[in-house]
Amino acid sequence: MASRVCVGFLVLVSSILLLLLLLSVSVYADEGEHEHVLTLDHSNFSDTVTKHDFIVVEFYAPWCGHCKKLAPEYEKAALVLSRHDPPVILAKVDASDEPNRELAKKFEIQGFPTIKILRNGGKSAQEYNGPREADGIVAYLKKQAGPASAEIKSAEDVSSLIDETRIFVVGVFPKFSGEEFEKFKVLAEKLRSDYDFGHTSNAKLLPHGGSVNGPTIRLLKPFDELFIDFQDFDVDALEKFIVEASVPIVTVYDKDPSNHPFVNTFFNTPNAKAMLFLNFSEEHLDAFKSKYKDVATAYKGKGISFLLGDSEASQNVFQYFGLKEDQTPLIFIQKKSGQKYLKTNLKPGHIATWLKEYMDGSLKPFVRSEPIPDDATANDLPTEAFDVQGFPTIYFRSASGNLLKYDGGRTKEDIIEFIQNNRDKSTQPSPVESSPVKKDEL
Ligand SMILES: *[C@@H]1O[C@H](CO)[C@@H](O)[C@H](O)[C@H]1NC(C)=O
Ligand SMILES: *[C@@H]1O[C@H](CO)[C@@H](O)[C@H](O)[C@H]1NC(C)=O
Repeated sequence: MASRVCVGFLVLVSSILLLLLLLSVSVYADEGEHEHVLTLDHSNFSDTVTKHDFIVVEFYAPWCGHCKKLAPEYEKAALVLSRHDPPVILAKVDASDEPNRELAKKFEIQGFPTIKILRNGGKSAQEYNGPREADGIVAYLKKQAGPASAEIKSAEDVSSLIDETRIFVVGVFPKFSGEEFEKFKVLAEKLRSDYDFGHTSNAKLLPHGGSVNGPTIRLLKPFDELFIDFQDFDVDALEKFIVEASVPIVTVYDKDPSNHPFVNTFFNTPNAKAMLFLNFSEEHLDAFKSKYKDVATAYKGKGISFLLGDSEASQNVFQYFGLKEDQTPLIFIQKKSGQKYLKTNLKPGHIATWLKEYMDGSLKPFVRSEPIPDDATANDLPTEAFDVQGFPTIYFRSASGNLLKYDGGRTKEDIIEFIQNNRDKSTQPSPVESSPVKKDEL
């Protein structure tokens, strides 16, 4: 009996040992495996790219923090996508390396990392505006590698293709041919990195259903009127319609990530930007919301956009502008010129009068207390303060003209360190010469 237990024990121990051995071998094999992301440089970039109908290229710099964070995710995605049918190729170029600078220039790279989707052997290039983690990268690129617009044939297609938290553009056509359909395809191809497109011959399947008369573009959105139909099939008119219809009357900034793409859109408009901040957990939210929305509706198309922010989610913004939480509710306007206007301890009844004074030009601009040193930002970029992935950030131009995206922390020390690390070593300009450039439209 004792010996049987003993033998059993030995078998157990040896199988554990064997398992450990196997595990260590497989870990070793994993480490030894080649990278799935192709490394390209000036010598082989063109040859590689011309061979592919679809290839994704990351332009990076070895010192860039966001690039280092992206690298393992990008590699994981490359592994998954290499098994896709047909395989999707992910590549990278060290754009900080002198001989590769021409490539970065050609593709108008203005910060790191920048990912470009190249089609038709590199004849067309499109900015990657997708997520930065592996699963998200895979899903986004699978969609980008497929047709620009997916056909909607059934209720199942509607639920699998249309995400109710996002904007979706559907073309409704009696038949999938003819001038209007061709224009729609051009449009979908042009805007595919920013919007999802579908087409159908059965309008009844769509959210908000109904019948449409002839070819129609329906834009579905998770805010305001929820959908808009449009029938002018000029490509530029269609594009303008989509861009304008995608901006909510009031953009909401809070902790809900599904709102963040709209915050991004808000900052990309050339309009003046009004931002009202208050604590969303407090009771008076609805009163502010409705008064603010009335004003925003009244000023639609008048060169000003509106954001409502939760002060709980906006600590960075407050720090950035030198505002204090005890000044909330507050409203803040930033003009394209950089001029700012502020009203603190706002009441719902103040909103309309204050905005009217602003529109009349009778408000005095506000001079902020300075949280960030002069040599780091001569500009103000509110996007920088919003913690939303994929935002354009502060850019620095070194004395020799290199453009670098600032991806460090928010404190004075972080920014000074970034400048010390990234100014041109050969010419040793003072940090003052490394003048920042504003980049608020990507
Ligand atoms: C391109 O050239 C670089 C440098 O010689 C090399 O490391 C890289 O593997 C090459 N890439 C391809 C796809 O041939
Ligand atoms: C917001 O209000 C809640 C509830 O009154 C409170 O607990 C929280 O501290 C407030 N947050 C801020 C940033 O003022």
